[in-house]
Amino acid sequence: MVYPKSSLVLALLSMFISIVPATSMTYNVVSLGAKADGKTDSTQAFVSAWTKACASVKPAVIYVPAGRFYLRQVVFSGPCKNNAIIMRIVGTLAAPSDYRVLGNTGKWLAFQYVDGVTISGGVLDGQGTGLWACKASGNSCPSGATTLEFSISNNIAVHGLTSLNSQMFHIVVNGCNNVKMQGVRVTAAGNSPNSDGIHVQLSSSISILNSKIGTGDDCISIGPGTTNLWIENVACGPGHGISIGSLGKDQQEAGVQNVTVKTVTFTNTQNGLRIKSWGRPSNGFAKDILFQHAVMTNVQNPILIDQNYCPGNKGCPGQASGVKISGVTYQDIHGTSATEVAVKFDCSPGNPCSRIRLEDVKLTYKNQVAQASCSHAAGTSTGFVQPTSCL
Ligand SMILES: *[C@@H]1O[C@H](CO)[C@@H](O)[C@H](O)[C@H]1NC(C)=O
Repeated sequence: MVYPKSSLVLALLSMFISIVPATSMTYNVVSLGAKADGKTDSTQAFVSAWTKACASVKPAVIYVPAGRFYLRQVVFSGPCKNNAIIMRIVGTLAAPSDYRVLGNTGKWLAFQYVDGVTISGGVLDGQGTGLWACKASGNSCPSGATTLEFSISNNIAVHGLTSLNSQMFHIVVNGCNNVKMQGVRVTAAGNSPNSDGIHVQLSSSISILNSKIGTGDDCISIGPGTTNLWIENVACGPGHGISIGSLGKDQQEAGVQNVTVKTVTFTNTQNGLRIKSWGRPSNGFAKDILFQHAVMTNVQNPILIDQNYCPGNKGCPGQASGVKISGVTYQDIHGTSATEVAVKFDCSPGNPCSRIRLEDVKLTYKNQVAQASCSHAAGTSTGFVQPTSCL
């Protein structure tokens, strides 16, 4: 084939353009007035950096150098003029330690309506201990703020981020598509209330990889409307384990479909792999779920489906969960249970669990054979399964 000269030049030119990265704009929060002293309010500097980055037609970097930056609530809102904003954090962002400042705002750092945002590195210190103590005292306290929330956003990446002592949930993904989290660390006390590590809902194509989560509530919680979720190489504990649910709180609810949880460890957690739904009517569902290669160490409920969740015995007693659970596989799950019943399928009498599959499961209790308990659950077991399957 012979190219006319002009199209050869064009071809070379377009090759050249595609290999040279577009230059990006960098906004250093310190140049915009932030102080790394841990006490000066740097909120406005972060807002300015975001406003500039979001208005830039070129890719933008928001740079947060070493040091401790005190921030009140910041909402990073789009849509932006470019779809490649990186927030590179070397230092620590610290929330107000007085929980009254953020306690009723719902969230501390929130990204919404954005497309193409990466957060790289950094420590987010939610300073939640004061609120936890308030909640433990039985006084009336605000519910608290989520540390980092992404809502109605696409193409998000988070890597190498640490979240400490969130007042409430550490990281929330709500209404998003294509979110990749890697190398995330969550640390909070084992008795910190409502401090879920990562919560996902109404979102698709989400991956959570190579992360370590120790907290007082769920390690990862998977809410209604989550599809195509991939969790791999995550260590949980302390906390309540990985939970699909609670589902079925609402009558009309989006289902959960295609969730893979593989190569995970649970250490001294309340649950391992759990699916839970409210015991009341709903059109919700959970299907096509794979739990593969899990190691349990001293876990109270290593494998659990609980469809009779009814906190406070309000609005559910005597009712059957409408949530349909089907196609759940447990493959290569082993370790130790802290209670005698290591496998429990307590499904809905109105909507029995179907196509549950156990394959190569070995869970022991005090070096002895543990027990399995089933109600309204059907499926198969293959390979070595101990405790003996009750399906
Ligand atoms: C299930 O989700 C994974 C990502 O977690 C995706 O790669 C795969 O294509 C999805 N499968 C189906 C049948 O949609």
